[in-house]
Amino acid sequence: MDLNTMSREELAAELAKQRARFERYKAQELRLDMTRGKPGPDQLKLSEPMLEYGMVEGGISDSGIDCRNYGQVAGLPEARAFMGELLGVKGDNVICGNNSSLNMMYDTVCTFMLHGVSERPEDRPWFEDKARKFICPVPGYDRHFAITEQLGFQLIPVELRPDGPDMDEIEKIVRSDSSVKGMWSVPKYQNPTGYVYSDECIRRLAKMECAAADFRIFWDDAYTVHFLNEEPAEQLNLIDACVAAGHPERAIIFGSTSKITFPGAGIAALAAGDETIKFLLSRISKQTIGPDKLNQLRHVRFLKDKAGVVAHMKLHAEIIKPKFDAVEEVFEAEFGSPNETVLDWTRPEGGYFICCRTQNGLAAATLALCNECGVKFTLAGSTHPYRKDPTDSYIRLAPTFPELEQIRAAVEIFCICVKIVLIERLLARCEG
Ligand SMILES: Cc1ncc(COP(=O)(O)O)c(C=O)c1O
Repeated sequence: MDLNTMSREELAAELAKQRARFERYKAQELRLDMTRGKPGPDQLKLSEPMLEYGMVEGGISDSGIDCRNYGQVAGLPEARAFMGELLGVKGDNVICGNNSSLNMMYDTVCTFMLHGVSERPEDRPWFEDKARKFICPVPGYDRHFAITEQLGFQLIPVELRPDGPDMDEIEKIVRSDSSVKGMWSVPKYQNPTGYVYSDECIRRLAKMECAAADFRIFWDDAYTVHFLNEEPAEQLNLIDACVAAGHPERAIIFGSTSKITFPGAGIAALAAGDETIKFLLSRISKQTIGPDKLNQLRHVRFLKDKAGVVAHMKLHAEIIKPKFDAVEEVFEAEFGSPNETVLDWTRPEGGYFICCRTQNGLAAATLALCNECGVKFTLAGSTHPYRKDPTDSYIRLAPTFPELEQIRAAVEIFCICVKIVLIERLLARCEG
């Protein structure tokens, strides 16, 4: 029965029932953590055989490069081609770094801050613009927002919908304000909703009129091959769309094998237009004499190509799909189907997260109650710039790391807390 249509007496009875469930769980003194999207130990195990591959043939790559030594600032050519295939570009348009794409995003924003986006004198360093701004689709990834917050951008939230951000709003913002320097995006199996941007949205991003000639899209394709069902969703390539629209340097695509092999020891890469690659390399070559090529070599030898990655990701899906299914089963048992008056949730086909929405104003209270019962979720607000969700309704669930039974318990406790907090609101309204 819908809590919103219950009488005062029914609500009081339901509250007592949910409180009793809560107390039973609390007495178990559980310590459950659903905060960060990390692969579980059994997923990490899938890539352990890769560690044998680095020194095959003495660490010399097929192109004859001695991966044990310095050099190749843009990365091993074989690794550039490999990451290029994953990100949908030629190897020449890829720079392979070390283990973290977030690190490459941070460095790229810093480079643009200090030097502008190209060698051209009219591309001024971003730091000179005191009113610099960045568009942040919400809900979104807290670590993206933190980078541009730390570097002094004003963060502009734009609503994310199932087929991408509100494009009418974005077009309006970028058309009139030359201080809007860029935007964040996770285009496929987005963090935290799992949404996939439509090709139409991608075309509009590529061709929109921007007041800032140095506007850049930071396209974090972190989950490009992270499907839960049969195969990864097909999606138009943003760089191709930008080239077709006459803005070949507008997009910078980022990706990594963090959740393909090892988050601590994968390969990260960025892809961009010819001019941007040349420009970034001129900066990176002052920063390093080259990345960890032995790691790049073992990745290429182990995974081989996109087909090899897709086969490997099927093994990941076999491990994590049951975890996503467990969340769905508990939600359905407790609430039926997603609904805006009690709890809404996404049903992703890939990625690492499920995004829930409580009624406005209830997310923080719900998570505080979960915490009292020993279950931690990502802090309320962290899906939004400055960690402030003005609706106080978004909650991110990360079901990949815990064991299945822990997930069931954590999500059941979450549902109990959603109900308690909502019933208390409804009862207070009855009193009022
Ligand atoms: C959208 C997104 N981008 C980047 C990362 C981190 O990537 P990396 O390990 O390559 O730094 C994460 C990790 O959760 C993520 O969700």
